[in-house]
Amino acid sequence: MDTAPFGKEFLWGAATAAYQIEGGVREGGRGTSIWDTFSHTPGRTRDGATGDVACDHYHLYRQDVALMKELGANAYRFSIAWPRIVPDGVGPTSSVGVDFYSRLVDELLAAGIVPCATLYHWDLPQSLEDRGGWRNRETADRFADYAARVVALLGNRVGCWITLNEPQVVAICGHEIGVHAPGLCDKQAALIVDHVLNLAHGKAIPAMRAADPTGKARMGITLNLARVYPAGQGEADHRAADLFDARFYRWYLDPTFRKSYPADAVEFYGRDYILPRLDAGDADLLSPPIDFLGVNNYSRHVIRAENGDPTRPQQVRQPASVYTTMDWEVAPAGLRDILIQVHRQYGPKQIMVTENGASFEDAPDAAGRVRDEPRVAFLRDYIAAAGEAIEAGVPLAGYFVWSLLDNFEWGQGYSKRFGIVRVDYRTQRRTVKDSGRWYQQWIAQWRD
Ligand code: FCB
Repeated sequence: MDTAPFGKEFLWGAATAAYQIEGGVREGGRGTSIWDTFSHTPGRTRDGATGDVACDHYHLYRQDVALMKELGANAYRFSIAWPRIVPDGVGPTSSVGVDFYSRLVDELLAAGIVPCATLYHWDLPQSLEDRGGWRNRETADRFADYAARVVALLGNRVGCWITLNEPQVVAICGHEIGVHAPGLCDKQAALIVDHVLNLAHGKAIPAMRAADPTGKARMGITLNLARVYPAGQGEADHRAADLFDARFYRWYLDPTFRKSYPADAVEFYGRDYILPRLDAGDADLLSPPIDFLGVNNYSRHVIRAENGDPTRPQQVRQPASVYTTMDWEVAPAGLRDILIQVHRQYGPKQIMVTENGASFEDAPDAAGRVRDEPRVAFLRDYIAAAGEAIEAGVPLAGYFVWSLLDNFEWGQGYSKRFGIVRVDYRTQRRTVKDSGRWYQQWIAQWRD
């Protein structure tokens, strides 16, 4: 069968993150994370939801791997909870914590599924937060140390590693607007966090390579990226879109690939804030060579300059578009365009779409079937757009649906359902939605 534009080696998978699905927060010697603290603080999450139980994946992981096998996935992106591995952030490695992921990895390999592990998907050990968290440069060293330990222990069976998930969201949601843990509202702190996260990635990659027992592991970072379009033809809208792109996307891409921060955003922030100094070897630490870039993409931005002022971006709603229950515009061409843009501007060796998906109000019908047509259409159109990017020359190697399961959607609690598999949180019963069946058929056509 002709497998173009997706080759036979293409990874088709689903993605999850530890705190969103595992539960078992007090088991296996796990330490407290900033998300335990945050979710247990009244008023922080929708309906006071916590990840204490979530999808109980800590106990049901075998069943969840079996589901992925049934769907035909050949890859799985999951995250490792730092507080399971180093419960206090510093100190010895917890063998019980490592053992959980070791069993998960064995289960995946036995099912023919390539494990792709993210080392930081937002669950910082609380004890490190107590020492300044990501505002403290020492946390970068702690992260590199933890990451290298995990690679040394699991690297004989895991060949795909992602250092950080979405530094932008860590900085902005966690430290500038306070809707994620640790819940700060301090732009100056967020800018420091950006830099410390870049240092963490920069220190971790060489430490992980040195620890990799095979010497062959593929390593990268995942950024949330979206294409920014000017709303109108005029110069002000173009400049507003460009500055928006600089602040929210190039601010993360440039230190990942170019050892620097983009000059236009530096100028913009420099008026009001103290920016990270790239002295004392910092620049050397940025942009370690990576094997792939992970791209999380959900939507796009259409930006106009409020009152003609390019420094005041305003998102323009698109009345003709479908919006998900996150109020994110469904815009598949945006995925194609951002992949092509990143490929042309930064030339990563390889790209993987490490998250893409949609939340809708789907519910089971009387027979228990979840007919989530909007999600089927979403996946079909976004995957087609990814194919167009490949045809335009983008070296795309994998695609991971967000998410395998309905799960704890951070500050939104359990109110948003992203899964291709429904979770009944009362019984923990899993039901493959129509979108999961669609994905299964889609993947099957690339197999012999
Ligand atoms: C991304 C996160 C992921 C999930 C999706 C909806 O920003 O990486 O954990 O919450 O959004």
